[in-house]
Amino acid sequence: MLSLPLASCTVEGANSDADSDELRQRIRVAREKLGDRLMILGHHYQRDSIIEHADETGDSFLLAEMAAASKAEHIVFCGVHFMAESADILTGDEQIVTMPNVRAGCSMADMADLPDVASCWNELLDNCGLGDPATREDPDLPAPDGESYLVPVTYMNSSADLKAFVGHHGGVVCTSSNAAGVLGWALERAGKDGKVLFFPDQHLGRNTALQMGYGDDDMAVWNPMLAPDWQALAGATFVLWHGYCSVHQRFNVEQIEELRAMHPDALVIVHPECDREVVEASDASGSTEMIRKFVADAPTGSIIGVGTEIHLVKRLDAQYPDKYVVCLDAGLCPCSTMYMIHPAYLAELLERMVEGEVVNRIVVPKQIADDAILALDRMLAIVA
Ligand code: 13P
Ligand code: SF4
Repeated sequence: MLSLPLASCTVEGANSDADSDELRQRIRVAREKLGDRLMILGHHYQRDSIIEHADETGDSFLLAEMAAASKAEHIVFCGVHFMAESADILTGDEQIVTMPNVRAGCSMADMADLPDVASCWNELLDNCGLGDPATREDPDLPAPDGESYLVPVTYMNSSADLKAFVGHHGGVVCTSSNAAGVLGWALERAGKDGKVLFFPDQHLGRNTALQMGYGDDDMAVWNPMLAPDWQALAGATFVLWHGYCSVHQRFNVEQIEELRAMHPDALVIVHPECDREVVEASDASGSTEMIRKFVADAPTGSIIGVGTEIHLVKRLDAQYPDKYVVCLDAGLCPCSTMYMIHPAYLAELLERMVEGEVVNRIVVPKQIADDAILALDRMLAIVA
């Protein structure tokens, strides 16, 4: 594992990017030497001094698609761990996926683990009289009339073993850019009185179900730390895992009201990991790529309040000087784990690659990858 002082990962360390001409040069030289053998993918939340080196940037769905389509020998994932795992699952055995810093995880993804999800799954099957889609001859087909199943759906922000669990049980992965389509698919496989178990982000699950026309009574939360509320769970179509993103929890309705009080014409777009009240008070919600497009398409002179990670918001503001793009949270809201990808790590990773040394490789064991790819492929097919 590459090891640089953690101090270079602090938010204040953003200034260390300013003295990074030397790092920039080192990365450019190594990239040049690697040529077509290398593809660098950068999530929208990465700092500018990483994004400038990315061959492609995008939200987690786009980056998964790009990894799946890439023929490069080396794919360097500048994002968080679950994204790199998905890239490894979607690429060939001969392709090598690495991360500049393998400690860059996602606190929301860590809120659901396999033992807890498996025990929730078993309790729901036992108590709600539902079938396991894995017992069907073809779980990819809609449920036959009169049959009811529990279909698992995991947000991309989850570990590979959870994606494998979902794939094995006839379920599917979703991202914030395709959640409604994926939930629609899952409901058809659940059957009339079936249920969807959605994890780990309760907010994406709730916001999407509301957007699809479902109400509060159609949803119940599963908190692995608490005793289940079987009355609520029995009546629910969606069982939402009690996970959340601490970055997106920082946004609230008052911030939107304050912006509109100052600028009545301001447009507001937030990520669907925000609370329901925040999404409902906004003009739009969507993935990081949708936020990027919303800003790009807004008329000149627009004032746009954005509820998502600060590096993306600042970059959009700089890219569109004819618009005023502002983060709803004046106190800044960095994703501290995305920020753990520093150009110094990238430089070292690439230089070692040039020397033929592979460090920080992300390898999902075959047995897990074989099931996880079922869930990822179902997602990619739904969107296509
Ligand atoms: P996107 O898929 O919208 O890029 O979201 C990923 C993420 O982690 C948001 O917090
Ligand atoms: Fe995870 Fe939130 Fe960071 Fe996205 S912003 S990677 S959900 S911690």
